[in-house]
Amino acid sequence: MENNTHKLVVIVASVREGRFGPVVASWLAEQADSHGGFDVDVVDLADVEIPLSLPAASPKYAGDEYPRPAGMRHLTTALESADAFVVVTPEYNHSYPASLKAAIDWHFTQWTAKPVAFVSYGGAAGGRHAVLHLENVLTELHAVTIRDGLAFPNYFTAWQDGRPLDPETPGYAKTLLDQLAWWAGALKSAREAAPYPA
Ligand SMILES: Cc1cc2nc3c(=O)[nH]c(=O)nc-3n(C[C@H](O)[C@H](O)[C@H](O)COP(=O)(O)O)c2cc1C
Repeated sequence: MENNTHKLVVIVASVREGRFGPVVASWLAEQADSHGGFDVDVVDLADVEIPLSLPAASPKYAGDEYPRPAGMRHLTTALESADAFVVVTPEYNHSYPASLKAAIDWHFTQWTAKPVAFVSYGGAAGGRHAVLHLENVLTELHAVTIRDGLAFPNYFTAWQDGRPLDPETPGYAKTLLDQLAWWAGALKSAREAAPYPA
């Protein structure tokens, strides 16, 4: 990783057959690459083993000893090493997909005192309900959510050939990424200066 860049993990939340999520994630990763402030890793939850049944103890207190499945290792390592996250999520029944909640519940400290931005898409609401729920959930993990997200209502008419049709969108993405980079640097310095009092 180059100096002055932050490790950014982009999470593809949807694992649905025929999903649109990878299109959005790949465009966002491209924006983050050209931003220059990040070393980007895209983690697709469809490639991760995420059992619904959890171990007895909470991952909050278990540290590295938490008994996760082998097929989750890449996700855990990516979350652990991240300085910042972008969650790319659709909206299912006015929330975010169960795949993402299950992945979140297998972890805890990997999110603590790190910034998270959201890129959502869906029908008329553009994933707004999904993001509201995620802000609530990730606050419990002591993550810091970024105000400026990207939302794509009726994405099926708003995208063509893997890109949003609105020419302003890359500018909105830059604002999101600028804020995320600022928080990534600030929180990394803070984590290095003193342990977070969780
Ligand atoms: C089970 C299910 C529930 C959905 N509920 C909503 C919803 O509440 N609001 C919405 O805007 N879109 C909803 N949609 C439409 C999805 O946002 C749309 O299908 C989108 O493509 C899903 O993302 P994906 O293709 O990456 O899985 C729903 C889709 C599914 C499959």
